[in-house]
Amino acid sequence: MHDAGDRNHRILFSLRPEGTPVPESFGADTTAVPTPGPGQFLSRTLYLSLDPLYRAAMRGNSEASLRLNPGDVMSGETVAQVLESRHPGYRSGEYIVVRNGWQQFALSSGQGVRRLDPDRAPVSTALGVLGLPGLAGYTGLIYLGEPRPGQTVLVSAATGPVGCTAGQAARIVGARAVGIAGSPEKCDYAVRELGYAACINHRSGDLAAQIRAACPGGVDVYFDNVGGEVLSCVVNLLAPHARVILCGMSEAYNVEVPPPGPSLAPVLSARATLQGIVVQDHLHRLPELERVVGSWIRAGLFRYKEDITDGLASAPAAFCRLMRGQNFGKALVRVAPEHL
Ligand SMILES: NC(=O)c1ccc[n+]([C@@H]2O[C@H](COP(=O)([O-])OP(=O)(O)OC[C@H]3O[C@@H](n4cnc5c(N)ncnc54)[C@H](OP(=O)(O)O)[C@@H]3O)[C@@H](O)[C@H]2O)c1
Repeated sequence: MHDAGDRNHRILFSLRPEGTPVPESFGADTTAVPTPGPGQFLSRTLYLSLDPLYRAAMRGNSEASLRLNPGDVMSGETVAQVLESRHPGYRSGEYIVVRNGWQQFALSSGQGVRRLDPDRAPVSTALGVLGLPGLAGYTGLIYLGEPRPGQTVLVSAATGPVGCTAGQAARIVGARAVGIAGSPEKCDYAVRELGYAACINHRSGDLAAQIRAACPGGVDVYFDNVGGEVLSCVVNLLAPHARVILCGMSEAYNVEVPPPGPSLAPVLSARATLQGIVVQDHLHRLPELERVVGSWIRAGLFRYKEDITDGLASAPAAFCRLMRGQNFGKALVRVAPEHL
């Protein structure tokens, strides 16, 4: 038997979903806890990140590097603690970000691993506002959106880790941030806690009329996390020389045929720029994110919310909730306590 115990619970991808994933899209098994070989370490998973991206990986036709096949352990980024190391660079007890996937224990060679200082920020933030979602929101907004003081920045999925980072960064650099979110509770939180000037509920009323009222001078920067109907509506409301940052397509993740795109004539008239962001292109800016957004958090200027589900066995249900847009804040699963 291993020091960690002898059982490693894992959640597997079992069935390609048609439409929104359901708990039956997943299976489970138990294996022995692996033992590290030379140059490897064993870590225990503390937090598992649930990300909309994994819906794409469940598709048969997704990019090969991402694609999940039935029987695979579900993939995912995790915060973990090194338990036993035969790697010269990692000591037992260290906190790290590593792609353990949906399982309690995993081996790593150290490739792609990020070390965490638990005294600088709660370790769970490394999967949210101080991790890849935060990096997409921060770099997309600052480097691609280039908001100027006084300009109007509209952000969809405004309370999630990507949107709350883009929206608060916009406010902090002097722009007027307006959110779009999916419930009255989310909209209330966006204004009260995150400091958006206004927040529009995309599930209630005439979306175009609401955006026009909240953005009377037009939209200078649209940070798009959802695509589909919301994007089609916003392109008609762009200010001259607007920038549209295409970050996510939540509306299309659960449908086989993507919804039709927006008509591009208004983009031409506004001389607007549409630009996609892929966060992997900005990994060199992670230290900047940690420094800048970390200092905003410590100064009380920047808030975030986590939607934490307890226990690995609850991960499938929590992922299905995320894919229905019912998460409120960064979707995480607490797999084990931070301290033994
Ligand atoms: N480009 C990149 O490199 C990159 C990196 C990270 C994430 N992303 C993308 O950025 C987006 C936001 O990611 P996140 O991690 O911050 O997620 P998130 O906002 O916590 O969750 C997704 C949100 O999308 C909204 N949504 C709108 N329409 C939806 C629909 N039809 N079905 C399901 N959800 C819907 C929901 O918020 P409301 O209820 O408020 O509408 C839902 O909570 C995602 O599309 C993600 O794939 C892109």
